[in-house]
Amino acid sequence: MNAQDIRKQYLAFFTEREHTVISRASLALHNDPTTLFTGSGMQPLIPYLLGEKHPSGTKLVDSQTCIRAQDIDEVGDTSHTTFFEMLGNWSLGEYFKAEQIEYFSTFLFDVVGLDPNKVYVSCYIGNETFNIPRDEAAIAAWQKAFKARGVEATVVALGSAQDGDKHGMQGGRIFLYDGKENWWSRAGDEEHTPVGEPCGPDSEVFYDFGEHLHDEAVWGKAHPANDSARFMEIGNSVFMAYRRTEDGFSELPSKNIDFGGGLERIAAAAIGSHDVYKISLLWPIIEKLQSISGKKYDSHTTSMRVITDHLRGATFLAVDGTVPSNKEQGYVMRRLLRRAIRFAFELGVEQNFFEQIVPVIADLYADDYPEVAKSRDDVIATLIKEEKVFRQTLRKGLKELEKLKSVDGEALFRLYDTFGFPVELSTEEAFKQNITVSENWRAEFDACMKEQRERSQTATKGVFKGGLGGQTLIHKKYHTATHLMYQALRDVLGAHVVQRGSNITEERLRFDFSHPEKVTREQLDQVEKIVNEQIGHDLRISYAEYPTKVAIEEKGALGQFGDRYGETVKVYKMIADNAEKPFSFEICGGPHVDHTMQLFEDGKKFKILKEEASSAGVRRIKAVLV
Ligand code: ALA
Repeated sequence: MNAQDIRKQYLAFFTEREHTVISRASLALHNDPTTLFTGSGMQPLIPYLLGEKHPSGTKLVDSQTCIRAQDIDEVGDTSHTTFFEMLGNWSLGEYFKAEQIEYFSTFLFDVVGLDPNKVYVSCYIGNETFNIPRDEAAIAAWQKAFKARGVEATVVALGSAQDGDKHGMQGGRIFLYDGKENWWSRAGDEEHTPVGEPCGPDSEVFYDFGEHLHDEAVWGKAHPANDSARFMEIGNSVFMAYRRTEDGFSELPSKNIDFGGGLERIAAAAIGSHDVYKISLLWPIIEKLQSISGKKYDSHTTSMRVITDHLRGATFLAVDGTVPSNKEQGYVMRRLLRRAIRFAFELGVEQNFFEQIVPVIADLYADDYPEVAKSRDDVIATLIKEEKVFRQTLRKGLKELEKLKSVDGEALFRLYDTFGFPVELSTEEAFKQNITVSENWRAEFDACMKEQRERSQTATKGVFKGGLGGQTLIHKKYHTATHLMYQALRDVLGAHVVQRGSNITEERLRFDFSHPEKVTREQLDQVEKIVNEQIGHDLRISYAEYPTKVAIEEKGALGQFGDRYGETVKVYKMIADNAEKPFSFEICGGPHVDHTMQLFEDGKKFKILKEEASSAGVRRIKAVLV
């Protein structure tokens, strides 16, 4: 069965079981400050998982196109792609664990035809702190499914993935892991699930591509959740029964199933190839690249994978109406396209080639997604136009380069600033042309960048009206550091951490927050590390004004919750240049610096000096930039 058949059969299988097919949601999300793209099948269904009534009923099925831009740098290995399809089926208060496992196992073993001897599963081991039991119902359902196919399924309780690396398979078929592996929420294990989020134990299914892919000396002992290429996760059934509260969990009004399975990965299992690029939705693109470049996939694997993945993602973004630009989704799209062009250089392809590849991609999807057929010509035109623009930029930049015998960071910055010439490309090109690149080019480049930002900052000085005692640059720096630390504390300690007070002087920041016990030095070190890392990412800082209710309830802005806000609030966003999500998103009057590297000026670092009790259940931290 090829990938297209698997998608079709999956939708048919659940339609026969009274599910309604729903169409995929757009890849690009607008008006969501936390994420730019649909990244999983359940994302568009969150309101319904929380109890709202879905217009198509209580049993749903789909194939959702997803983009995970955060994986962009991992593309090139055997299984990561920025774009993928997630098969999904949902029960909104109808069937639960036994039926879900019966359905999915029947689909995998009897429809797709996977060998049950090569399939391993994981279930939730339970959590004493939160009083959530080991998932006996899921275990029993899997035992039944394997037994019906002549496989005796032994249960092995591993605990954490690290424990698994130590103890290995032990003849098991069903493996029990803790919440780091088998608890699902959009962010974090049991303890770190954000308050209000739907969540629950889950059960993952893995396909075994063979012992030869596992090197014990590198990966530790083999087991399904190990990171080697031997086991690939192909599907996950989430038993969404809870919602996180301040101090534990409450049960949802109804128990739901949220299933997500990677179409490309199931298709890879079906053909027994751990390399997903060999499947029917990807291989024709690779073949085209081979014929354009005259190079072989086996010797140019990474470049061909990157180009294939990136152009497929960009094609679907264009289908969904995104155009290349310098911000948000358009920026990610531009980055995908430019990276594809850059990697094509490694294949020796230096002329326009989108015109040949993009139609191949469009044709792979046109039969199953009518919107692809309909927008085919426009999509091709959009991508080709961007390719031309970028090549012009490249040519101008190259001309500039050719004039030079050597370049330093300042010259590289000029190329970047005037022509939008990516600095990695300039250095690569300089190397090819035997142009000397100064040893300190990176530092020189960064210095020019900083100077330019300061110029633009001076231009906006005086626009802030915020509520701080002082308005000097040092006040702003400490204020920005406070936001970063607030988020880092929540990341390290949990979502129960809420601001209770803040005070800033020229000498230090002071921050009070809810937390029931002393924060250990180890935790403080972690917080310090996160803050310094984020400053180092040079997050950009900006704000927007929203109605208060929208900011808190829809946008998920952090606040000082106890405070009373007016009708509208300002929300400050701190986000890295290439990031999908802001690191900090907080209600605040300002003012702040406009990018975080300013905090490191004069060689300073962020440091926590002191942690102490402030009042019952409230801790106090003093921190400095030294
Ligand atoms: N929502 C679950 C996931 O994305 C199925 O893994």
